[in-house]
Amino acid sequence: MAYADRTKLAKLFATEVDRFVAAHPGSHSRHEKALGPMMGGVPMSWMAKWPGGFPVYVEHAKGSRFTDVDGIEYVDFCLGDTGAMVGHSPDASIQAIAKQLAQGITFMLPTEAATIAAQTLADRFGVAKWQFTLTATDANRHILRYARHVTGRSKIVVHDYCYHGTVDETFANLDDHGNTVSRENNIGPQVDPAETTIVVPFNDLDAAEKAFATGDVAAMLIEPAMTNIGIVLPQAGYLEGLRELTRKYGVILIHDETHTLSEGVGGMTARRNLHPDAVVLGKTIGAGIPAGAFGMSEELTKRVSDSLHLEHIDVGGVGGTLAGNALSMAAVAATLTKVLTPEAFEQMEALCDVWTTDVQNIIDRYSAPWQVSQLGCRAEYSFRESAPINGREAADADDFELQQYLHLHALNRGILMTPFHNMALMSPSHTHEDVARHTAHFEEAVASLFG
Ligand SMILES: Cc1ncc(COP(=O)(O)O)c(C=O)c1O
Repeated sequence: MAYADRTKLAKLFATEVDRFVAAHPGSHSRHEKALGPMMGGVPMSWMAKWPGGFPVYVEHAKGSRFTDVDGIEYVDFCLGDTGAMVGHSPDASIQAIAKQLAQGITFMLPTEAATIAAQTLADRFGVAKWQFTLTATDANRHILRYARHVTGRSKIVVHDYCYHGTVDETFANLDDHGNTVSRENNIGPQVDPAETTIVVPFNDLDAAEKAFATGDVAAMLIEPAMTNIGIVLPQAGYLEGLRELTRKYGVILIHDETHTLSEGVGGMTARRNLHPDAVVLGKTIGAGIPAGAFGMSEELTKRVSDSLHLEHIDVGGVGGTLAGNALSMAAVAATLTKVLTPEAFEQMEALCDVWTTDVQNIIDRYSAPWQVSQLGCRAEYSFRESAPINGREAADADDFELQQYLHLHALNRGILMTPFHNMALMSPSHTHEDVARHTAHFEEAVASLFG
């Protein structure tokens, strides 16, 4: 167990809850009202999971910070779990969005901004042809449909403990005997994911080859580094090995870079000179205005377009009326070209280096059995001594109560961490002062546990 003294932990947590409730009467009263018309008092069920009994209500946000309805200012390291990785409401995005809002929001017709966005992504990722959706989930769903369509095969391969949005086929895990089973707490699956999916551990080429050798696999959908069960980094040669095997067995390789975009303008794909058949993006690219994207290689694009019938294309299962709308495209074009620049990434990563070093130093000073991993401008500590090599190892280190304590401790000191994670993201607006605030909180929290 990451922290053995549960009585002490419970006492520490109770003290933080009292402090939180006392400091947030405005958020508390708004939550009480919200309990009337919304399940759990929140617009989406998972928002009820924040620690402290009720969520904080935001009054306004800009750059790296937001202020709540009780007048408390926070440094935001959650950044909408990457939806606001460019910082809140960056000026260049807002100008383009405001202009488009006044000129029409959605037409079922393309705008020039789409071409600018697609060309920018093609140049950055080395992937030729792009399509746009409203979310990364939709982009994943669409590219999986295309993959099954052109290969005529039914199954997909994913990593154990992956998360790719609410894509049905991905809610599968490995059981203790290595069988693919429905993920625990999978809510109302359409079919048993064991019928659609083969799960393999991250960093295990043998398991991947065994799955591909069945001959049933249309696509493998991966994050090049896992980010949703904490950060799990690829071992040397793993990603290149997957590319070789997917080519050998005719499996379409999809990089979901929704989160791993943290490594730079072309994500891990460009930075590590990788060559998938398809890349998926979302959240970040529109500065929070709903937008997702998937890019396909020339070869895959040709296979897809040769197999589609124009007459039926609108009801074939790939689409959405608002996909590629003018507002989303204006947001994406401006955000990619004016905010998410190579210079911005350099600065974000350098600051994340400082955050990571500070956290690891404190872990070492207090001999906490924890470690921190970094992926560009994203870093996360986990409750285990060495970096995990697969999702199962990362999941086994989870400690919900410990995490709730650390999150609430942070909130009470004006810091928002990514919920369900121990993760911090840097935006182009974050400063050394922001990082120092986190370092002070983390030292105080670790000292309260181990001091
Ligand atoms: C890797 C990855 N892909 C896709 C998604 C889905 O994004 P969205 O919920 O915006 O559709 C997520 C969400 O966290 C993600 O982490």
